[in-house]
Amino acid sequence: MVLIAVPVEGEAETRAAVSPETVKKYIALGCQVQVQSGVGLASSILDADYEEMGAKICGSMAETLSGADIVLKVRRPSAEEVAAMGEGTIVCAMLDPFDDKDGLEAMAAAGIKSFSMELMPRITRAQSMDVLSSQSNLAGYKAVIDSAGHFTQAMPMMMTAAGTVPPAKVFVMGAGVAGLQAIATAKRLGAIVTATDVRPAAKEQVESLGGKFIAVENDEFKEAETAGGYAKEMSDDYKREQAELVAKHVKGQNIVITTALIPGRPAPKLISADMVHSMKAGSIIYDMAVERGGNCELARPGEIVNENGVLVMGPLNIAGALAGNATSLYAKNLLNFIGLFVSEEDGIKIDFDDEIIQGTLVTNEGKIVHPRLTGEGS
Ligand code: NAI
Repeated sequence: MVLIAVPVEGEAETRAAVSPETVKKYIALGCQVQVQSGVGLASSILDADYEEMGAKICGSMAETLSGADIVLKVRRPSAEEVAAMGEGTIVCAMLDPFDDKDGLEAMAAAGIKSFSMELMPRITRAQSMDVLSSQSNLAGYKAVIDSAGHFTQAMPMMMTAAGTVPPAKVFVMGAGVAGLQAIATAKRLGAIVTATDVRPAAKEQVESLGGKFIAVENDEFKEAETAGGYAKEMSDDYKREQAELVAKHVKGQNIVITTALIPGRPAPKLISADMVHSMKAGSIIYDMAVERGGNCELARPGEIVNENGVLVMGPLNIAGALAGNATSLYAKNLLNFIGLFVSEEDGIKIDFDDEIIQGTLVTNEGKIVHPRLTGEGS
């Protein structure tokens, strides 16, 4: 019988890799599930909720991992966790594969077969396994709610006997999954929303949500999307033109939410200190890319910097602040992925020719094997 184990995450993580619903489904797939006591607490899930669905509750990390065939995690396992796993254990997590290569080497050396959920190919068949989408969508919503919470004005226009409250102007930079949800949320709250991106496909999506699209739409822009649906790093000339356009626009905005990322590279710097200084006191910059180096020059991870009255927010683990939903969706993504290679009839049977397996497999048989990490792929 396949044994699935889920230890408690580290302190910085509120999400869990399993929900009561997915425990039930794993058991229906013929698996046994053991979770460490307290694994769901920060997502408001009690041990009893897991137990009721058939999970065994274990007192310690070592007990949880002992004998496990598959370990499910949100973040990359710690060195202690790796040490508690047997050779050949399968780990599915957000491994943050482009950081801390030594840590990955250590996992490989320990004989762990690991899958990095962030590397999920963006193909239709993998949509239900796409953790970046499920988590970014929640984060995009939360970004607007948090920004509105720090803004000293209202979001919608209000006409009152004492005068008119103007609508807030919200500018979203990067209209991917997080950005599009931020646009939709800000619109629902009554703000006037503009957005930018370097991928031409984003224009129609922004407009369909009622946002106004603003971008340098030259020839380079027309080719800025990779076959995988991601943005490319832009040329210095493009960046200069983009910066001029953004500088003019940002001045008049109340809330700027930045989400721009390029896979495997530092986040592009889009808001300079000068741009921050051009904004009115009370404005907010909410830098969702701060964990990847930030889109705003003045953003600091985990801090709110007050720069002449402009708040530059650098939130960490935004989806984790909605742990209830984030856990439920992440756990479901993992369940859909595990369903590719676990079945009641065959137990674990991995098809290494499957595009989804190849796209996510990071360590196998003692080595780092992913082409984007061994330098063989882009
Ligand atoms: P992301 O999180 O990697 O980046 C966020 C956004 O920043 C992207 O839209 C990107 O184009 C933009 N960006 C990068 N550099 C920029 C710059 N210098 N200035 C302005 N914007 C910049 O991207 P995300 O949200 O993960 O997804 C990108 C796209 O992938 C989606 O919009 C969608 O079309 C596609 N996708 C496809 C899926 C599927 O088919 N399974 C699932 C999810 C997304």
